[in-house]
Amino acid sequence: MAEAGHTARVFSGIQPSGGLTLGNYLGALKRFVETQDTGGMETIYCIVDMHAITVWQDPDKLTRATRELAAGFIASGIDPRKSVLFNQSQVAAHAQMAWVFNCVARLGWMQRMTQFKDKAGKNSENVSLGLFAYPALMAADILVYHATHVPVGEDQKQHVELTRDIAAKFNNDFGVDFFPLTEPVIEGAATRVMSLRDGTKKMSKSDPSDMSRINLTDDADTIAKKIRKAKTDPEPLPENLGGLEGRPEARNLVNIYAALAETTPEQVIAEHGGQQFGTFKPSLADLAVARLEPISSEMSRLMEDPAEIDRILREGAGRAEAIAAPILRRTYEIVGMVGAGSH
Ligand code: AMP
Ligand code: TRP
Repeated sequence: MAEAGHTARVFSGIQPSGGLTLGNYLGALKRFVETQDTGGMETIYCIVDMHAITVWQDPDKLTRATRELAAGFIASGIDPRKSVLFNQSQVAAHAQMAWVFNCVARLGWMQRMTQFKDKAGKNSENVSLGLFAYPALMAADILVYHATHVPVGEDQKQHVELTRDIAAKFNNDFGVDFFPLTEPVIEGAATRVMSLRDGTKKMSKSDPSDMSRINLTDDADTIAKKIRKAKTDPEPLPENLGGLEGRPEARNLVNIYAALAETTPEQVIAEHGGQQFGTFKPSLADLAVARLEPISSEMSRLMEDPAEIDRILREGAGRAEAIAAPILRRTYEIVGMVGAGSH
């Protein structure tokens, strides 16, 4: 069965569960904007509210977090005229495609997902079925648009690989060449921003310590204080990159600096090598404030008009739906569902 070749299309998503961190900004948002502005590809960005409810969310907080995340996208530079920006639950095709993929993915594949193992912990009998099935919904998010490229942070690589496995198995089971084998795009100096309190742990919105992360909504004083208090070792910055070996906290601050300054860790070491943290941290704090302050004030401004945010998401959902509907219909037809096509 001949299927059209796959034109390059970008899809990515972020969960509206709590606020945005510097990790989300550098690992995801900032790169989404670069892709939108330079890639020459169609870009689709989604606020994945259905993923968020795999763990219980207070309904009012979910509503607010969804709007705040939309504001974060726009304030970071996503232009809703250039990119398709919407929340997942407004496009039913995600859930419909996810069911088909639940029937393609194998239990053993899902059991290997490290994020599930981390999130479920010792409590795996008691977490929701949705948390376990989450990567199949993520595959549906991506493949219902035939997306070929997915910019994400390092922690999502395994889920994009699973998406490829699902696409390949579907194509093979039905003897078609319908779904593309999507590439994860994990690039830049900050694909894994680490906690400011522990350089071996990912910076995360769910860390109990607020000092471990920089939130996009933090004010200038808070950002400066968190960087000043960030854990480091007593040595000055090394004169070359090799000297960061075994110094996760120092490496993390150098990577953050490089990503914020749009340069490389090599360049940061060339300029700051030999400095004590007492000198380097204030430079990093100034840079972070200069980059993040305009985003956080634009987010607050946008949050004053939730109706406008809702309008933007509704409009984006309409455009997303128009892309997804024929791909879902064709999927149903391939599977043999009556009413889907020309059987
Ligand atoms: P999440 O907040 O888990 O929904 O993640 C949204 C996006 O941000 C995904 O692309 C993640 O890979 C990325 N991300 C989250 N935390 C970090 C981090 N600490 N460093 C780099 N990227 C991150
Ligand atoms: N699972 C991703 C995360 O926790 C969010 C996500 C859902 C996503 N669907 C996606 C990311 C599709 C990229 C593409 O960060």
